[in-house]
Amino acid sequence: MSGQFNFSGQNVFVAGGSSGINLGIADAFARAGARVAILSRSAERVAAAVKSLRGHGREVLGCTGDVREAPVVAAAFEQVHTAFGPIDVVVSGAAGNFVAPAVGMSANGFKTVVDIDLLGTFNVLRASHGWLRKPGASLINISAPQAFVPMPMQAHVCAAKAGVDMLTRVLAMEWGPEGVRVNSIVPGPIDGTEGMQRLTPTEAARSAVMAAVPLRRFGTIDAVANVVLMLCSPVCDYVTGVVLPVDGGASLAGPGLFNSGMTGA
Ligand code: COA
Ligand code: NAP
Repeated sequence: MSGQFNFSGQNVFVAGGSSGINLGIADAFARAGARVAILSRSAERVAAAVKSLRGHGREVLGCTGDVREAPVVAAAFEQVHTAFGPIDVVVSGAAGNFVAPAVGMSANGFKTVVDIDLLGTFNVLRASHGWLRKPGASLINISAPQAFVPMPMQAHVCAAKAGVDMLTRVLAMEWGPEGVRVNSIVPGPIDGTEGMQRLTPTEAARSAVMAAVPLRRFGTIDAVANVVLMLCSPVCDYVTGVVLPVDGGASLAGPGLFNSGMTGA
């Protein structure tokens, strides 16, 4: 599907791009002709991801750093702008998760996830602003169903991702006049990912989730990447401030789905 979209000559920055869904998004942009930069903590995983992304024949830049550290994120954007020029697409997808009841997590446990997911997204978008192509840039935050479906054992993620979606809407309003679009994508249960491994570690949990998804199957990384490319393409150039699920209808099931399957219970 990335073949239907042409991002040749465009510059894409993916925060959290060294694995899983975010790497799949970076890969789809590279296949569609873009120069791609990624930022994650583990130098080893960044190097492996850069190597695989370069297989598509595009320029690829790997940055190592933590999205919780604003100066580090700012330096990464400056480096990418120097190498590539104005940035057309930013994907903010770095996230952390663990399964624990509220009384089972310390203030630092709660803060850690809020800092990675929400403060990290603020840092990424805030740092990108000076280096974006204006008008025309498209920013995508990777949210989660926890943003609007309350899920036990996920107080930290629910709070953080709800904040991410509100940030999407506020920045869509603040930066719209400059021709910058800001949208959230909400992946549902995506197979073969770290996130789903943490939330559904047993076959019973996987089956419970699958049975409650209206399309009766897990999603693929490509399904999410396809929608990100579509949102960043000219066909969606009047779309901003939306929170778009790519979830097989999972969020329609409400809290029941998540209570039954995705708590790791
Ligand atoms: N239950 C309760 N608290 C937990 C926990 C768990 N399962 N796992 C971690 N924590 C707490 C720690 O105890 C610590 O709090 P404390 O200092 O009061 O003891 C706090 O969270 C920070 O842990 P730490 O390991 O130092 O954080 P980190 O920054 O190294 O790692 C995580 C962040 C915990 C989110 C880690 O799992 C991670 O890096 N995840 C990235 C990958 C991921 O989660 N992918 C799925 C994306 S949806
Ligand atoms: P993943 O493979 O664990 O990817 C997370 C990425 O973020 C990794 O590259 C990780 O690399 C990076 N990262 C984590 N903490 C970071 C930090 N502090 N600074 C910089 N980078 C950091 O996870 P995934 O399951 O594919 O999830 C990707 C995104 O989709 C997340 O935003 C998640 O909330 C969302 N989502 C996933 C699902 C699902 O089914 N998996 C469902 C809904 C939403 P390092 O650890 O090396 O830093």
